[in-house]
Amino acid sequence: MPRQLVECSQRQDSGDDEAGPAYPPIPPEYAMVPDPILGRGGYKIVYPCVDKNACCMVSINVCADQHLITEAKTMKMFDHPKILPVIVAGWHGGRFVIVAPLMKGDLHDKALSMAQHGRLNNFVVFGWVRDIARGLEYMHKKKIVHRDIKPSNILWHGDDGQDVKIADLGLSKRGPCTENVGTPSYKAPEIVGLKGQRSAYGTPVDIFALAMMIIYILTGTNPFKNYEDEQIKQKMRQALRTARRGEPGDPATSHIPPEFRMVTDPMWRPLLLQCLTVDPAARPSAGQLYEQFSEALAPPTIYVHPHMAAELRRLGIEQEADLQEVDEDFLRDPRCRLDLVSKQKLRRMKSEWEARKTALLKPIVHDPAQIPAAGGAAAGGAAAGGV
Ligand SMILES: Nc1ncnc2c1ncn2[C@@H]1O[C@H](COP(=O)(O)OP(=O)(O)O)[C@@H](O)[C@H]1O
Ligand SMILES: [Mg+2]
Repeated sequence: MPRQLVECSQRQDSGDDEAGPAYPPIPPEYAMVPDPILGRGGYKIVYPCVDKNACCMVSINVCADQHLITEAKTMKMFDHPKILPVIVAGWHGGRFVIVAPLMKGDLHDKALSMAQHGRLNNFVVFGWVRDIARGLEYMHKKKIVHRDIKPSNILWHGDDGQDVKIADLGLSKRGPCTENVGTPSYKAPEIVGLKGQRSAYGTPVDIFALAMMIIYILTGTNPFKNYEDEQIKQKMRQALRTARRGEPGDPATSHIPPEFRMVTDPMWRPLLLQCLTVDPAARPSAGQLYEQFSEALAPPTIYVHPHMAAELRRLGIEQEADLQEVDEDFLRDPRCRLDLVSKQKLRRMKSEWEARKTALLKPIVHDPAQIPAAGGAAAGGAAAGGV
């Protein structure tokens, strides 16, 4: 259970500046380190910090007013490996703080640096999407809409960014919601709404934002990079109007960012379009995405007799497949429909999996030269989506 922070008599820094405290008061078991701040947003500053009792690094979010209280309350509702947990939260020294585990960075920078080093590929991206979808499925079951899914709000750990967690629950709220909030280029059309006709929206906005985030990861550029916020809003409204008219042969595409054209991989295009559908009900759920990406990453399952399993293990097959031993009794059960592996089938499965892995490991290249200009031939309506 998270503990409540108590006021402590630790020295308070006097070096406040306009942007916030230069060195915030912290509870006695936490000590600041000289490293630079991790992030500075509209109302909070995130510092690295040492937990002296646990002898480990943590992060500390500090805010001069009540903004962080709602975020801490939402974080405390969750207990999931794919959502950043709260270690402790409460008032301290006149400020509200949230202490959370220190992660190594966010996906905004990680996607770029991995691409630069030739280490970004679909194996990595599928894993990120599977994990984010898993975290979202959990949040959505509790009817909470994140409302700010984007690369800088997904934190990573692990050696090559494999362990990701959803963070920054500052805008998260129980649906249905009505407020027009979020990051303009990640906001679903229903959040923007038609002028004077605001209606309720829910968890599908996170799926829309996740698709925009995938476009960023695959292309290295923010969706609608060369557009003003107002122009993005108009594009979303245009799509809403087109979808409402429902004219055949006139699909709403103005909300699809021009950067979508840079995504050429057939593994991604149909799925991204589905997640970006104007009709929220037509988008896949987080649970469906989690299943789809888990399956895409899973090596084949091989059912074998125990005597054959030993032989296969000797050949190192369990690194390439999920080896399931089944015995004679199980096989005699009339409900058993298992197709036991033969040597020939094994060879075929192995080469299929190897081909799948080779495709997944192909490096994703970010090419800034391809970023479409705003309003140019490459950026308009249906051409933008290439649909
Ligand atoms: N626990 C953490 N570990 C490492 N970096 C963090 C952590 N929390 C936040 N950050 C960094 O700080 C940035 C801002 O934090 P965030 O919670 O997203 O606040 P904001 O509401 O200001 O966007 C993140 O994008 C990330 O780079
Ligand atoms: Mg953030």
